[in-house]
Amino acid sequence: MALINENYLKLKAGYLFPEIGRRVKEFTDANPDKKVIRMGIGDVTQPLTPTVLKAFHEGVEEMGNAATFRGYGPEQGYDFLREVIATKAYQANGIDIKADDIIVSDGSKCDTGNIQEVFGNDNKIAICDPVYPVYADTTVMSGKTGECATNGYYSGIVYMPCTEANGFIPELPAERPDLIFLCYPNNPTGTVASKEELTKWVNYARENKCVILFDAAYEAFITEPGIPRSIYEIEGAKEVAIEFRSFSKTAGFTGTRCAFTVIPEELKAYDKDGNAHSIKKLWLRRHTTKFNGVSYPVQKAAAAVYSEAGQKEVKEVVEYYMENARIMRESLSAAGYTVFGGVNAPYIWVKTKSNMSSWDFFDKVLTEANVVGTPGSGFGPAGEGYFRFSAFADRENVIEAMERIKKLS
Ligand code: MLT
Repeated sequence: MALINENYLKLKAGYLFPEIGRRVKEFTDANPDKKVIRMGIGDVTQPLTPTVLKAFHEGVEEMGNAATFRGYGPEQGYDFLREVIATKAYQANGIDIKADDIIVSDGSKCDTGNIQEVFGNDNKIAICDPVYPVYADTTVMSGKTGECATNGYYSGIVYMPCTEANGFIPELPAERPDLIFLCYPNNPTGTVASKEELTKWVNYARENKCVILFDAAYEAFITEPGIPRSIYEIEGAKEVAIEFRSFSKTAGFTGTRCAFTVIPEELKAYDKDGNAHSIKKLWLRRHTTKFNGVSYPVQKAAAAVYSEAGQKEVKEVVEYYMENARIMRESLSAAGYTVFGGVNAPYIWVKTKSNMSSWDFFDKVLTEANVVGTPGSGFGPAGEGYFRFSAFADRENVIEAMERIKKLS
């Protein structure tokens, strides 16, 4: 008899975004004449930029020519991409990360979930609440938790509430975890962590032999000076932190797929006898066994993001989305909502009015304004009463959506 992984039965509901998609489809099927504006999942709308597209085309052409054709590539990514990431994304900013520390993949969603495989199931995981749902769901799937209680919390996870009262920045946990997920700029609240905040976490991890899983997928959206774009800006972080970065939002690769994970050689975790082991070595073992690399044309396109022209172009696209964020922030504030985020992140975190629940607000916004957002409670119990709007949208849709929301009763 084939047995299932019963950890999957602990999962409370379907994954958040397909669930939203299902509800939206139900609505559009019943109301085919309505123009629905989608600001739910953070999916980019602007095309690949010319320099990136040209490199992508060149890569495809090379694949069609016997002299330049490539079969299997290195699972951890071509050296040309790993080198340019190390020099342009890190060393140029004074951060000593080497090409060898960079492992290219098809997405940070996959990496933040899969990384748990190289850590034992006795690890205690700390996650923020609310948070990008992948961290909690994959912790459950991996068998590191017990059941989900009626309050929405899984036993075995250390939850760190991020509320208006603490500025959506978690306190150090009362119970000592082993792995700590942090995401800055934050999805979903759109807040950022200062250098002092991140230093506090790095010091805590060093004192307690924890590993920080730092999701920096939105670093390109930081507009204010002095805010760390990488956890490795903090002294000692290389010993305790893994960083996840992605081309998805930065350069429009949500459909193209390319990301990378940084694991410095210094980062160690322990076996049951207390012997230290290189996490990079374990992750490479996993990656080379279970993954065959991102396609060559995609990696060529990703490398072009770091060219002078590529950098200028992707910066303009980021600015376009951040101007959307500004319009949304101001419109929603003018409509009487309490609004957070949207200054250093492409997400606007809005408090619903009159304590309306997140899903009730979702239904109201969908049925009355025909706009899709994401219910805050989908990111965790502390997100109840909040709603997330994504700034990844076309400008005219942003303006129209805001006009419709202003008119809501
Ligand atoms: C989101 O909307 O939170 C993200 O687009 C999801 C993702 O990056 O997987």
